Amino acid sequence: MTKIAPSILSADFAKLGQQVLEAEQAGADRIHIDVMDGHFVPNITIGPLVVRALRKITSLRLETHLMISDPESYLEAFVEAGSDLIIVHYEATPHIHRALQRLKGHQKLAGVTINPGTPLNTLEEILEYVDLVLLMTVNPGFGNQEFIPSMYSKIERLAQIKSNRHLNFEIEVDGGVNEMTIQRIIQAGAEVLVMGSAIFNAPAGVAVTMKKYQELAAQALQKNEC
Ligand code: DX5
Ligand code: ZN
Repeated sequence: MTKIAPSILSADFAKLGQQVLEAEQAGADRIHIDVMDGHFVPNITIGPLVVRALRKITSLRLETHLMISDPESYLEAFVEAGSDLIIVHYEATPHIHRALQRLKGHQKLAGVTINPGTPLNTLEEILEYVDLVLLMTVNPGFGNQEFIPSMYSKIERLAQIKSNRHLNFEIEVDGGVNEMTIQRIIQAGAEVLVMGSAIFNAPAGVAVTMKKYQELAAQALQKNEC
């Protein structure tokens, strides 16, 4: 079953806890927390403080997407704040293998992510060590952007590599997942969908919208299996 990871970047921060609980009650598989430092990406968001606050109110997996320079200096801070899975940008450190090893050393799930312009083959040497590969399908920094169409093929190629090498990392897609793109994203092989604006900006509200996307995802998966 395709999993949905609501991204709080598009949530109403004046009632963040309530929105996270709505997403949990509506069947979210995990919460996607976008950390930005205004240096690796041209936006500033949140830090370990918010992870710590959300850890107190939900038992859902908290996956922390680090869009920051020098991520290795902050791994323990996000581990201690309560992240279950930490996703590091390949582009943000020359020592991605060591960063992943350190996360494993903390008994945490380790994810790697690459920007739209970064080739898949940069991940060749580390795919066997990761629990998750996050493909950025927009340029990181903001919600509510257009999905980059050439990323469909990138998802397909990653799914093929996973199958050929008999690896078991999750394939997650992040950016521009919505009614227009969800079916083809799933058919390309995505297993976890990060959804920010599609869920939190929807007039129908979180619960109704989550249900809509769960149904769309199930239909897409069925088409895959036919
Ligand atoms: C962008 C973030 C994404 C973003 C997705 O830099 O990493 O997680 O919140 O937002 P939507 O789903 O609105 O494209
Ligand atoms: Zn993200």
